[in-house]
Amino acid sequence: MPRTSLAAVHDGRSDRLDVREVRVADPGPGQVLVRLRASGVCGSDRHVLDGEWQLPSPTVMGHEGAGVVEAVGDGVVDVAPGDHVVLSWYYPCRRCAACAAGRAWACTGTRSNDCLLPDGSTPLADADGTALYPYLAVGTMSEYAVVAESAAVKVPAELPFDVASLIGCSVTTGVGAVTNNAKVPAGASAAVVGCGGVGLSVVMGLALVGADPVVAVDLSDEKLATAQRFGATHLVRADTDVAAAVRGITGTGADYAFEVIGRVPTIEMLPALLTPGGTGVLVGLPPVGAVAGIDVLELAESGKTLIGSNYGGAVPSLDFPRLARLYLSGRLPLDELVSHRIGLGEVNEAFDAMRAGERTRSVIVLD
Ligand code: APR
Ligand code: ZN
Repeated sequence: MPRTSLAAVHDGRSDRLDVREVRVADPGPGQVLVRLRASGVCGSDRHVLDGEWQLPSPTVMGHEGAGVVEAVGDGVVDVAPGDHVVLSWYYPCRRCAACAAGRAWACTGTRSNDCLLPDGSTPLADADGTALYPYLAVGTMSEYAVVAESAAVKVPAELPFDVASLIGCSVTTGVGAVTNNAKVPAGASAAVVGCGGVGLSVVMGLALVGADPVVAVDLSDEKLATAQRFGATHLVRADTDVAAAVRGITGTGADYAFEVIGRVPTIEMLPALLTPGGTGVLVGLPPVGAVAGIDVLELAESGKTLIGSNYGGAVPSLDFPRLARLYLSGRLPLDELVSHRIGLGEVNEAFDAMRAGERTRSVIVLD
């Protein structure tokens, strides 16, 4: 029977979310009904609220979430009721060339970006029957979600839900940028520009692989102090000459530099942070249509590389359980990312805090 669910809805016009009851359909063939228990408040949601990215609307927001499978539709084999799952905001079709090549994040058969399930439907509606769209086909700021089977990845039941929710986006995006995209070797030097939930995950990934030194850059002293707890060896305030500071620490520049904000000026700064032959990694996502100016001659002559990183180059069904194990064995202190546990009704304040550069990560608890 269709059920109601308290959810945070964005109408596409203001930057405020309205928390109200919405209708959630039964899971159809190949679909999974999840009772969400936690949803992170991520920078990518803010891009949408602030009008930087356009989406079908009204939208149930949230794309990093975890919960328990409540029911499955016909043909579902990967998960069963009672399984604990982390949701992936990019459901791979498992049939296209990118999926076959292990690049699930580049799947060409998914309709996640259109906020639609594989059959083109949306499982959500307002009380009057108006269609609502789940953000990136998950819509985790809600008590219930109906998702594609490949978007629900089983994880160990001992994983706390708040930590699990962050594996759904920020942790996978940040740690994966280090391990899957840049493939940073032990002993390499690295700089991380922007230490929010995703940037701190990059710092954790660098500590995991044994990068050294690890230079954290942020405008906020509080974020820098947190980065140090996660393994940054040097801290640099962004309102100083960052390139000079990174050269002072590394000698000729970093082997790897990560931009984890999504701002054009900091993206343009990346090559200056690198040693000749170094690699800059674009993790932060700028507004649609943003164009950066790079000194091309300098980039070519010094043999530097710039690479894009989407969802940490992850295959969710492989990477989510791996990251869960690394947390459970004490190798990744993911619980320290959760700085604020809040109710759904406090979601607007959480985005305001993010806009002010405050809070490591707010997680909405959906008990
Ligand atoms: N220089 C350095 N740091 C900055 C600057 C700047 N000019 N401007 C902002 N910051 C810092 C903020 O202080 C904050 O710590 O960048 C961090 C951004 O963190 P969040 O807002 O928490 O964003 P997060 O969720 O980490 O996402 C960052 O990654 O995946 C993408 O879409 C996501 O584009 C977003 C980015
Ligand atoms: Zn995200």
